[in-house]
Amino acid sequence: MPGDPPCWMHLLFEPMTTTVPADLDRYLAEHDRRIHDELFAFLRIPSVSARSEHKDDMRRAAEFLRENMQRIGLAATVEETGGHPVVIGEWRKAGAGAPTLLVYGHYDVQPAEPLDEWTSPPFEPTLRGGNIYCRGSVDDKGQLFLHLKAIEAHLATRGRLPVNVIVLAEGEEEVGSENLDRFIEANRERLKCDGVIISDSSMFAPGVPTLLSSLRGLSYFQIDVQGAAHDLHSGSYGGAVPNPAQALARIVASLHDETGRVAIPGFYDRVREWPAHVREQMKALPFEEATFRRDAGSPPALTAGEQGYSVLERIWTRPTCEVNGLLSGYTGEGAKTVLPGKAMAKVSCRLVPDQSHAEIARLMEAHVRAVCPKGVTATVTYLHGGNPWRADLEGPLVDAGRRALQATFGREPVVTGEGGSIPVVGTFEHLLGAPVLLLGFGLPGENAHAPNEWMSDENFVKGMRCVATLWEEYAKGNGK
Ligand code: BES
Ligand code: MN
Ligand code: MN
Repeated sequence: MPGDPPCWMHLLFEPMTTTVPADLDRYLAEHDRRIHDELFAFLRIPSVSARSEHKDDMRRAAEFLRENMQRIGLAATVEETGGHPVVIGEWRKAGAGAPTLLVYGHYDVQPAEPLDEWTSPPFEPTLRGGNIYCRGSVDDKGQLFLHLKAIEAHLATRGRLPVNVIVLAEGEEEVGSENLDRFIEANRERLKCDGVIISDSSMFAPGVPTLLSSLRGLSYFQIDVQGAAHDLHSGSYGGAVPNPAQALARIVASLHDETGRVAIPGFYDRVREWPAHVREQMKALPFEEATFRRDAGSPPALTAGEQGYSVLERIWTRPTCEVNGLLSGYTGEGAKTVLPGKAMAKVSCRLVPDQSHAEIARLMEAHVRAVCPKGVTATVTYLHGGNPWRADLEGPLVDAGRRALQATFGREPVVTGEGGSIPVVGTFEHLLGAPVLLLGFGLPGENAHAPNEWMSDENFVKGMRCVATLWEEYAKGNGK
């Protein structure tokens, strides 16, 4: 049309890459000190979901979030679940037809033990070498909190958000999210959304923004083996009465073959191979075995797992079965000649698509029954589980995430997998029919679940900017 600029003119005027909006960036910079004070106050609450002595702390953490959400302009409530409460914050004033995004995170943390291995107290956030040391700093309180502050930046500078928002903070993720599925099911209408954003994972390396494409599932068991009704003198009875500790050792040994494959019949039946191009892409990632080994405390050799798969493939794409704990007989100082009456193991399987945690539970139970030595009884108790997940990596939410990461970190994100589990991710897709975007700001070696957990302060600060940018990018890119 006459008067229209030539078709290439937009190249001059449109920025080649997305940038963090200047007003949001400025707001976050100006309020940096106060935001950190708030984060530190949140981290000081020892919200350990596994321990009943922290029940009141869990409630305090939930109330802290509710109060903070209200202060930034969300309608917020603390909701009962039968276990630790859920906190919901909502802002639904984006206008008719605007999409709704849900942010999920968890405010519960793992126990801090062993306490004597912490350099600074576990619940006293301490900035050292650019990292915030504290239990929950990266998993997941810091990553949940950065979302609240990104929302705050929008509401404070512009008085509105470009899309409707629901924040769902749970307090039982570290103990298996047992009440959450029921809660989501009961609140399906209220939680209806077009997409879910979760920051509860890590970047591949410092400065390398990361889109997470998969999580493993989990099936967790306790195996109890009972021999005699009580402990016995090992001289008077040993050799005649079956030993449950040894029986359990046989059961545990039967879980794998000599090549490292899981030997539970049927275990691999539903394992889907990964597409060749994803495996290729994984191989291209700059994985450093030396760093991995150092983070893991330098085991002499990385021999565990299945032959024929690289370390990253084993962790991201293959299922496992691991003993998490063993208990039997005398374990105190010195020697005691005793024939134990019982033995116990905690065992969990990490699962990959299309394994299901319920089916693996059936297979485990049948296997243990089949291999249990005569003279003792073995009982398998299913503790909790969650299904594996793999992303499509397509659609407006992923595109917005990609652009926001690019804007904040100055480079294209890489696509990774993860070996850990976030059970609710599958539930979001099934019950809400919403795609999930996993955008993590942790780093390798962050000591999640271990002493001296830390979150990079730079990533906390960039994380806020990244998700603030994401809101805007999603609204722009979404045709709704
Ligand atoms: N944030 C983790 C999940 C995770 C772990 C993501 C590693 C990325 C890498 C989460 O808090 C967690 O620890 N999940 C548990 C789940 C379990 C208790 C049901 C896990 O993976 O063991
Ligand atoms: Mn977590
Ligand atoms: Mn965790």
